[in-house]
Amino acid sequence: MNYRHAFHAGNHADVFKHVVLLALIDALKRKDTPFMVLDTHAGRGRYALHDNPARKTGEADAGVARVLGAKTDAIAIRRYQEALRHCNPDGGLRIYPGSPMLAAMALRDDDRLVCYEMQADEARALTALFARDRRVHVQTGDGYAAMKSLLPPKPRRGLVLIDPPYETQEAEFGAALAALTEGLQRWPQGIFAVWFPIKERRSLQRFLRAIAKLPAQDILLAELLIRPDDSPLRLNGSGMLIVNPPWKLDAEIAAALPSLTAELGEAGASHRLEWLRREATA
Ligand SMILES: C[S@@+](CC[C@H](N)C(=O)[O-])C[C@H]1O[C@@H](n2cnc3c(N)ncnc32)[C@H](O)[C@@H]1O
Repeated sequence: MNYRHAFHAGNHADVFKHVVLLALIDALKRKDTPFMVLDTHAGRGRYALHDNPARKTGEADAGVARVLGAKTDAIAIRRYQEALRHCNPDGGLRIYPGSPMLAAMALRDDDRLVCYEMQADEARALTALFARDRRVHVQTGDGYAAMKSLLPPKPRRGLVLIDPPYETQEAEFGAALAALTEGLQRWPQGIFAVWFPIKERRSLQRFLRAIAKLPAQDILLAELLIRPDDSPLRLNGSGMLIVNPPWKLDAEIAAALPSLTAELGEAGASHRLEWLRREATA
């Protein structure tokens, strides 16, 4: 595996994914009962934006750097900005928190976070980051396997974030779909959030059609395109599929998408939010 998230940390896709992640965790905190966050593809948890990989691509400059100081009323973006400021108390932007760090910052004392990371060096860094946090457990290995070993959690509340690198494109879409299918079989009421890349639109249709057939009551699709989705070679945007989204999450994302599109987008940028399935009464 060649993928290293340090080259991409804080890019437009991370911003979008992490805004949604924090909104999901905030919604879970509306009830007192503790919950579990399972991050199946966790990365190293924390990225130094002045290090070579990030400097080489400059992706954070076109991503988080544009959103951090943006003026907005969207609560989901403000929550994300606050988390970023917490990681960069001197007011700059040197540290980008990955999904495990953002989740850990948002958890309460009795909530827990379980992270899976396949690459040994990334997993070592992640383990070191949480060495003194008893709420967080890091496992080196295949996060898809956690669908079998960890679901459903006790108590049955929480969220599974599935954020693979999609190095093998087609195969990874299949693996994410299989993981969701397995996860839903074991835990039909669980919240599952799946990130996916958008390059060329037509290559996505089959995946989204299969997702829409999953046996779940509600499936929300949110997409942020920073330019038209007509090239197979570039990451033109990304999407989040949220199975069993919490109440009012759609409204929070709807309020955030226009600002995110304005801050991150180039010519031809767009966004969409729609229900792939909608059965529950609101
Ligand atoms: C997109 S990055 C994760 C970023 C992270 N979720 C975040 O938002 O900060 C994907 C990570 O998944 C890891 N990975 C790839 N295949 C995996 C698997 N089957 N199980 C667990 N981790 C895997 C890669 O090493 C990489 O660090």
